[in-house]
Amino acid sequence: MADQRISLTINQRDVSVVVEPNETLLQVLRDGLGHMDVKYGCGEGVCGTCTVLFDGEPVNSCLMLGVQASGHTVTTVRGLIDDPEGRALQARFLEEGAAQCGYCTPGIVLTAYHLVRENRRATREDLRAGLAGNLCRCTGYVNILDAIESHLGRSRSHTEASV
Ligand code: FES
Ligand code: FES
Repeated sequence: MADQRISLTINQRDVSVVVEPNETLLQVLRDGLGHMDVKYGCGEGVCGTCTVLFDGEPVNSCLMLGVQASGHTVTTVRGLIDDPEGRALQARFLEEGAAQCGYCTPGIVLTAYHLVRENRRATREDLRAGLAGNLCRCTGYVNILDAIESHLGRSRSHTEASV
């Protein structure tokens, strides 16, 4: 198959780019378009590090082909700065010390953003389940869950040692 020019919208900007048929969306975003805020972790759909919102839904961009994004909308973590809720949620992450390393945080923030928009009444268990596809291998999820609950207007709980 030949290279193909695709048009898509990334963080509210229309973009046109030539992609190779076997390039992943992650490669197109990072290598083709310079969106280095989208992180590469496992490359095989396990860690959630490469999460972006695709037409508003979280996806592992390492598992999609770039050509599949033609005509669609992609939001990276930088794109959340244009949205009041995205800014507010990131502020809660900072306040609660939930912004951990640069690898897991972008994907976790995007998944959390989707979770709070989908369900304002999400329980801690709901949030934990919703974040199951975003792995952190070095710290824990307590501050992350506290930050999301704080964003949802609840007081934080420091009673849990871990998830
Ligand atoms: S890099 Fe995509 S899920 Fe790990
Ligand atoms: S993988 Fe990011 S803090 Fe552990």
